[in-house]
Amino acid sequence: MSILELFSLAGRTVVVTGAGSGLGRAMAVACGEAGASVVCADAQPATAEETAALIQGAGGQAAAVRVDVVDEPSVAAMIDGAVDRFGAVDVIFCNAGISGFYKRIDQVDLAEWRRVIDVDLTGVMLSAKHAARVMIPRGSGKIILTASIYGLIGSDNVPIADYAAAKGGVVNLTRELAMELAELGLTVNAIAPGFFNTNLGRDKAADQDRKQRLRDASVKLIPTHRRGEAAEIGGTAVYLASAASDMVNGHILVIDSGVLAR
Ligand SMILES: NC(=O)c1ccc[n+]([C@@H]2O[C@H](COP(=O)([O-])OP(=O)(O)OC[C@H]3O[C@@H](n4cnc5c(N)ncnc54)[C@H](O)[C@@H]3O)[C@@H](O)[C@H]2O)c1
Repeated sequence: MSILELFSLAGRTVVVTGAGSGLGRAMAVACGEAGASVVCADAQPATAEETAALIQGAGGQAAAVRVDVVDEPSVAAMIDGAVDRFGAVDVIFCNAGISGFYKRIDQVDLAEWRRVIDVDLTGVMLSAKHAARVMIPRGSGKIILTASIYGLIGSDNVPIADYAAAKGGVVNLTRELAMELAELGLTVNAIAPGFFNTNLGRDKAADQDRKQRLRDASVKLIPTHRRGEAAEIGGTAVYLASAASDMVNGHILVIDSGVLAR
């Protein structure tokens, strides 16, 4: 096999949660372009349809499905539907997520805390669980979790205890699942993005001035002084989904233009 063929996803089925927007859409589109059949799953079905249409418009294979990653029957149905439609699940990106509520610890609201832990950690676990359920009998599969640099460091930018706790959980969930599943033929890795322009947190930024201040502050932390565009996650996604990364397991792949290099 040539080195470029190693990166091909032809014949593979890839499920992406949070595929209706931002990084998830970019992961789905990149995998479609690399030859995969892509199941675009999102809580907002119209946006998942748009992503599937982008892939189909470029000549690829895709299906859209509504999923709420905190609702286990809905996650199970997403995986079973992918198997029915395309025959198997070879790769899953457990990527759907929400921002934190930006409150200092003394002001944290318990219901808001639970919501962030639910979506950003439990939702990731449920997606990995049901993908593993169909991958284990086949003895192969790649599970890729979306963490964050804020699963690895604290923020001196904005208070994010809820989000940081959830993403820290995703980081060590990656390592734990990699250990549990290695002998069964599966790999489990995480992508830890730095700062990308997406819709993340848009729902919480009623105040556009505040949003701009947060963006300006994040740019100061990036050695290149430039936030990423979502499409720039595509190469990393295809690498981790493809045979090119078969020896990579339990790894947290940071993609942050050097924020963590300091
Ligand atoms: N944008 C960044 O700078 C950045 C940095 C680090 C990590 N991340 C992570 O990347 C992932 C994707 O975020 P994004 O930046 O693309 O944000 P985004 O808001 O653009 O996309 C998130 C998608 O997830 C979906 N979603 C939310 N809750 C869901 C649920 N319960 N069930 C199913 N789908 C749900 C949303 O509808 C949306 O389409 C998240 O896990 C986020 O924490 C983003």
